[in-house]
Amino acid sequence: MPAVILDGKALAERVREGLAGEVAEFRQATGITPGLSVVLVGEDPASRVYVRNKENAVKAAGMNGEVVRLPADSTQKQVLDTVDRLNADPNVHGILVQLPLPKGLDSVEVIDRIDPLKDVDGFHTQNVGLLAQGRPRFVPCTPLGIIELLKDAGVETKGKHAVVLGRSQVVGKPVALLLLQKGKGADATVTVCHTGTPDPARFAREADILIAAMGVPEAVKADWIKPGAVVIDVGIHRKEDGKLCGDVAFAEVAPVASRITPVPGGVGPMTVAMLLKNTLHAARLAADRRG
Ligand code: GUN
Repeated sequence: MPAVILDGKALAERVREGLAGEVAEFRQATGITPGLSVVLVGEDPASRVYVRNKENAVKAAGMNGEVVRLPADSTQKQVLDTVDRLNADPNVHGILVQLPLPKGLDSVEVIDRIDPLKDVDGFHTQNVGLLAQGRPRFVPCTPLGIIELLKDAGVETKGKHAVVLGRSQVVGKPVALLLLQKGKGADATVTVCHTGTPDPARFAREADILIAAMGVPEAVKADWIKPGAVVIDVGIHRKEDGKLCGDVAFAEVAPVASRITPVPGGVGPMTVAMLLKNTLHAARLAADRRG
């Protein structure tokens, strides 16, 4: 039996509709329109597409969205000054600095300059620490979207073996932390494989839930999959023929898996939906502080 497709596009649309309703209620109750500012430094073509998608989604949900564009040759101080200005602006509830930054800029210093209560990406040291302690405040959007997909599909995680391929700050590490938390959509036994792992396929074959986030096109083959496993593909790559693919060789893996996310239309749309969720969360935190 071929795998059931986990339709992230459809779920993201449902989530976004629900959030638009929540935004309208929040605005009525508080007079506050949630606002997200995205800082884009330079002209990276992929980043420009991502940023445009984020801006459109924010506006469609009834929030304020602005993109602050800085030239590729900006200095570290210019980027930090921009973050300071947004930190001080009461109409800006969420700040996202699109990564990667151009060479020569220190992204760690920039991210840690963001007010941690406005850090909708969940990359600030304070938010990473809270997640590691099991009391999350802002969780990175892609890992949050993966957990929502699993929950929505009724995938049991408790007591299951989840194997994460990749240890990035954006996906691998935070998704591993989420899965090993206590509670719904978590309580898994988690293995993280990375570039220092000899023979990751050996671990992947033990997975009930396999999360491929290593950033290598179609690296995960059919013989990496335990029959009936749930496969989540975080990768997105443009092939020579112009088509998109993920980190999973979809055509050969789908017949072995029980459920699988497509690329495109799986994890990607959920990431944007979770950014909206985090932005509303940031606006609620601001309203609480205002009292
Ligand atoms: N670049 C690729 N993914 C992301 C993300 O989730 N957030 C930011 N800020 N930049 C990214």
